[in-house]
Amino acid sequence: MYTHLQLRDSDRQPVTLSTLARMKADGKKIASLTCYDASFAVLLDEADVDVVLVGDSLGMVIQGHDTTVPVTMDDIVYHTRAVARGLHRPFLMADLPFMSYPSKDRALENAVRLMQEGGAKMVKLESGGTQAEIVEFLAGHDIAVCAHLGLRPQSVHKTGGFRVQGRERDAAAQMIENAKRLESAGADIVLLECIPADLGKAITEELHVPVIGIGAGPHTDGQILVVYDMLDITTGRKPRFVQDFMKGAGSNREALKRYVEAVRSGAYPAPEHCF
Ligand code: KIV
Repeated sequence: MYTHLQLRDSDRQPVTLSTLARMKADGKKIASLTCYDASFAVLLDEADVDVVLVGDSLGMVIQGHDTTVPVTMDDIVYHTRAVARGLHRPFLMADLPFMSYPSKDRALENAVRLMQEGGAKMVKLESGGTQAEIVEFLAGHDIAVCAHLGLRPQSVHKTGGFRVQGRERDAAAQMIENAKRLESAGADIVLLECIPADLGKAITEELHVPVIGIGAGPHTDGQILVVYDMLDITTGRKPRFVQDFMKGAGSNREALKRYVEAVRSGAYPAPEHCF
């Protein structure tokens, strides 16, 4: 049976995990952005973004906090539901926020909320390697999981701030091991934040699942940015890996289109965006 959504835009098939696996196999870059509301979701869909993340970065760019720590499950469910209404083609992933996965049961309960109440197709959790059992448990319940490694904003108070991770040889080796462990546990996507480009390359080559990077160099299978950063809406100093796609674009629509083209062609990220 076809729903009205499947009939709408039927020449643009929704992105699935199989689409993303095929893109990795074919060497086609995955273009991804964060999103927090239905109006932006429509724009991202029109720009042909492949993966949309309702990130807990909403705590900073929407709610005005200094970190993502205050974000709650209710916050993410609310924004995911809004974004889901505006999307047709992109694959929708939503963050499990701080302390929403301290045990297997809580992780499952909250992943189910993101999918049933929010309409997410995949959940993302931050992992320093210790979350492999949680990933395995969710995967065992046929929930698509993205494991976020490298800089983990939910842990900034413990790790000492927003800084590049994996610069030292031991830390880099440990991150490669963690990524492999999470893949074996059933992670369907690995997201790498703020790590040296060489390490991003090594992890991408080691893994069979797609790897999406933010400040992780040009070699990952895809790129993601916080949409307010790349549209130059965020005020103040932005991370080195952010490119202002509004510059010379004239409109949000054109800037989003240019971002997708730059990711697909490999023009973004350029050397000045990498560590
Ligand atoms: O919350 C978020 O926006 C994220 C991105 C930085 C990938 O996790």
